[in-house]
Amino acid sequence: MKVVVTGGAGYIGSHTIIDIVESTNWEIVSIDSYINSTPDTYRRIKEVTGKEIEHYKVDLCDKNALKNVFNEIGAIAGVIHFAALKAVGDSVENPLLYYQNNITGLLNILECCANYNIPNLIFSSSCSIYGNVDVLPVDETTPLAKSESPYAATKAIGEEILKDFSKVSNTNLIALRYFNPVGAHSSGLIGENPINKPSNLFPVITQTAVGIIEEMQVFGADYKTRDGSCIRDYIHVSDIANAHILALKYAVEQGKLENLEFYNLGSGNGVSVLEAISTFEDLSNIKLNYKLSARRPGDVESIYSNSKKAKSQLDWETKFALTDMMSSAWNWQQQLEKEKNEQS
Ligand SMILES: NC(=O)c1ccc[n+]([C@@H]2O[C@H](COP(=O)([O-])OP(=O)(O)OC[C@H]3O[C@@H](n4cnc5c(N)ncnc54)[C@H](O)[C@@H]3O)[C@@H](O)[C@H]2O)c1
Repeated sequence: MKVVVTGGAGYIGSHTIIDIVESTNWEIVSIDSYINSTPDTYRRIKEVTGKEIEHYKVDLCDKNALKNVFNEIGAIAGVIHFAALKAVGDSVENPLLYYQNNITGLLNILECCANYNIPNLIFSSSCSIYGNVDVLPVDETTPLAKSESPYAATKAIGEEILKDFSKVSNTNLIALRYFNPVGAHSSGLIGENPINKPSNLFPVITQTAVGIIEEMQVFGADYKTRDGSCIRDYIHVSDIANAHILALKYAVEQGKLENLEFYNLGSGNGVSVLEAISTFEDLSNIKLNYKLSARRPGDVESIYSNSKKAKSQLDWETKFALTDMMSSAWNWQQQLEKEKNEQS
């Protein structure tokens, strides 16, 4: 079965490709514009798996170029649609870029699903669509509050588009609402390596530890949480990756799903930014240079997941603890430093 992965050179896409290569006999085709990655990711995937990944450089917003690729690929059993811009703060500063890239890209992919009779699509959604909620943990019945950032809005609108499309389309549609994917592959050879400045906590922590970032900021120390910093639900990227295989298998087994299905993917544990910092400090024996600063526009105060639906319907379970997430992210940062030193 042939599966198209959009954004396959990115962080979660590359880990998902590795899991697919290692645990299925599916054929993968990756499509990426490299707006936040480089094709070097495929070399890393090959280093880990021994497999060359077929890939195309295409911006999903370029409908004609996308159609040409789908014409070339032939019959496709499913699309896993990761490609999107993802930085909350950046989206507040560049809202039009985020709406243009994330919504146009999705619309073009859905048009391809319709035109090329693609039976299954998995969409990368996000816990950010829940907004600031009153009751924690959130499950899939929790009403969505106002989106706190243009990025979150692109995911909430994306799900609305999928809901409407599911009523008229032959494609099975599944949205996976990731909480906070972190960590790196156990090989230490691949991990998060964005070309844009990282805004997610773990790469910021590990880059501060090696001195790439001189002083990291903790955005907001006056939230109504146990230590004043934001609370998030960190989840190992390899656990997230595995959910895509289970979701696609589920969609294939179900025949035709009537509506859009959506699933939370989180660990269920709320961890504050300051707790994450101190876990890292204990594990690495490195004191991080950080300062408490003002809240960052777009951030919600607290969020963590009830992921029972994914467990019961997809048979998905997390395998990795917070310390595994942190130590794999740290191994990966050290690998990047080693490579940098070898090159210079
Ligand atoms: N990492 C997170 O914290 C997180 C949390 C929730 C949801 N998500 C979602 O998961 C998906 C993957 O995230 P990630 O962390 O791997 O991000 P990433 O930036 O590492 O990967 C996204 C990939 O998509 C590519 N891309 C973006 N726009 C494109 C376009 N128009 N055409 C072609 N390629 C394009 C980028 O170059 C990149 O390789 C995104 O949709 C993101 O919004 C991520």
